[in-house]
Amino acid sequence: MKIIGKIADLKAVLNQARLAGQSVGLVPTMGALHEGHASLVRRSVGENDVTVVSDFVNPTQFNDKNDLKNYPRTLDADCALLESIGAQYIFTPSVEEMYPEPDTRQFDFTPLDKVMEGIHRPGHFNGVAQIVSKLFYTVEPDRAYFGEKDFQQLAIIREMVRQLGLKVQIVGCPIVREEDGMALSSRNALLTKAERKTAANISRTLFASRNYAHSHSIEDTIKYVADTINGIDGLEVEYFEIVDGNTLQPLSKWGSGDYIVGCITVHCGKVRLIDNIKYREKC
Ligand code: PAF
Repeated sequence: MKIIGKIADLKAVLNQARLAGQSVGLVPTMGALHEGHASLVRRSVGENDVTVVSDFVNPTQFNDKNDLKNYPRTLDADCALLESIGAQYIFTPSVEEMYPEPDTRQFDFTPLDKVMEGIHRPGHFNGVAQIVSKLFYTVEPDRAYFGEKDFQQLAIIREMVRQLGLKVQIVGCPIVREEDGMALSSRNALLTKAERKTAANISRTLFASRNYAHSHSIEDTIKYVADTINGIDGLEVEYFEIVDGNTLQPLSKWGSGDYIVGCITVHCGKVRLIDNIKYREKC
């Protein structure tokens, strides 16, 4: 596996690959790779001739300076993992390489970015769209892979691709969970042992809410999830919403959609964790 830091160098090797008729898969990441990322990379390696993994902690998507400063960085371990999976390139640009001048582009993904993370992390999705579009312009991938844990991000990236008229196929991949149900996330590394144990109650409650939902309204289910998690010492729900899986707009009745997802953000100590659960899935 080759480590590449410059856009021009990455474009050069990918042009060669394309001239040889090879397909290119891109897995955008911010590093601190775990099994969730590994599942995306494995899928890309299986579906494309060449896989590029970008490893870049993108400053424009952080609305909190401390969050950016504390974001885990584990480049050596990331390289070892990617090598073992068979990715061909890891792209590790500097901030200056990706942003030689400030990116002033403003995206509008109404209504997808006007709910949930869009409200609680102002500017976050604009920053995500800035970096992901730059990566798409640089790599020109045939396919790009994103995890469903960041459910709203995935919907917004699909919409961005539609708005920009890009040819890349967006592949959404299922959440990978630990044995106790906890969704894998780079931020889990920031939890203490005790917090990590407590945090397992988030997914436990989401799974339990699927049964609860069979005999209760959406309003009651939201209250059940929020009250259960808030009742656990060390956890505080920022929001829990039950939304249409396509439009991300809150639903008030189970009957009003065939794709229904519950999206949650919870604070565990200083760590902000997100997760989601499907109540009804499109076939
Ligand atoms: O999901 C992430 O890790 C990031 O938001 C992404 C898509 C790599 C953009 O920086």
